[in-house]
Amino acid sequence: MTARILSGKEIAKDIRKDLKAEIEELKAKHGITPGLAVVLVGEDPASQVYVRSKVKTCERLGVNSIEHRFDKDYPESDLLALIDEMNGDDSIHGILVQLPLPKHIDEEKVLIRIRPDKDVDGFHPTNVGKMLVGKPDFLPCTPHGCQQILMRSGIETEGKEVVIVGRSNIVGKPLAAILVQKAKGANATVTICHTRTKNMAEHTRRADILIVAAGVPKAVTGDMVKEGVVVIDVGVNRIGKTESGKDKLCGDVDFDTVREKAAAITPVPGGVGPMTITMLMMNTVRAAKLRIKQ
Ligand code: GUN
Repeated sequence: MTARILSGKEIAKDIRKDLKAEIEELKAKHGITPGLAVVLVGEDPASQVYVRSKVKTCERLGVNSIEHRFDKDYPESDLLALIDEMNGDDSIHGILVQLPLPKHIDEEKVLIRIRPDKDVDGFHPTNVGKMLVGKPDFLPCTPHGCQQILMRSGIETEGKEVVIVGRSNIVGKPLAAILVQKAKGANATVTICHTRTKNMAEHTRRADILIVAAGVPKAVTGDMVKEGVVVIDVGVNRIGKTESGKDKLCGDVDFDTVREKAAAITPVPGGVGPMTITMLMMNTVRAAKLRIKQ
């Protein structure tokens, strides 16, 4: 079997077309331009790429982007004061503080300071709680992007064995909470594997749908999956430069050996990455719309 390629890039394009129309309607009918503030502290190269890409997508869709960049020594107290200011600014509908933050800044303190109705990352405990009980305002972008790839590719999750590799607060844990819900695009039987899991391959070989967010290049290989599995690769690992000087990327899945057995697989790049940014735009539009209803 050679796998069908699930192009997040193409799915994201479709969703963005609809979002662009929604944004135009918000402007025409309500005089509202959705505004997203993006904060980057430090010089982490991957974060710089993500932030640039988020701002560029805002521009393409007609979302106002407000970018704040600070050096790695920016004090926590200043960051909290900036969040307070943005919380009170009516032109800003969404606030995103790019993670990871430098070590001297308490991530939890920062995330909890963002007003839940502007928390387009879905990381505030209020939004995590709402997601867990199945009444979300904002779903976290990467897990929601994974679910959308499955749904929009016609891949049924109901009753399926979904195995997630990775238990981060950004991907693994929320993804499990989303896919286990009694809801369309969910109803799965979910297992989370992590660094303390014994016999990882025994779990991954059981998966009908395998989602890998391990943060380790090519951690899942062909011998660890069953024939016909659907694989979503969340990993983005920089493994050198291409001839033209661009970053060379690979996922957390060994694409060449896994695609031989899989029914479907997302590529890296062009898989989950474009979906994450698109879900952020979706949340920003939602934040702007929720404001109208208040
Ligand atoms: N770092 C890696 N992924 C994310 C994300 O989805 N949101 C934020 N704020 N930081 C990240």
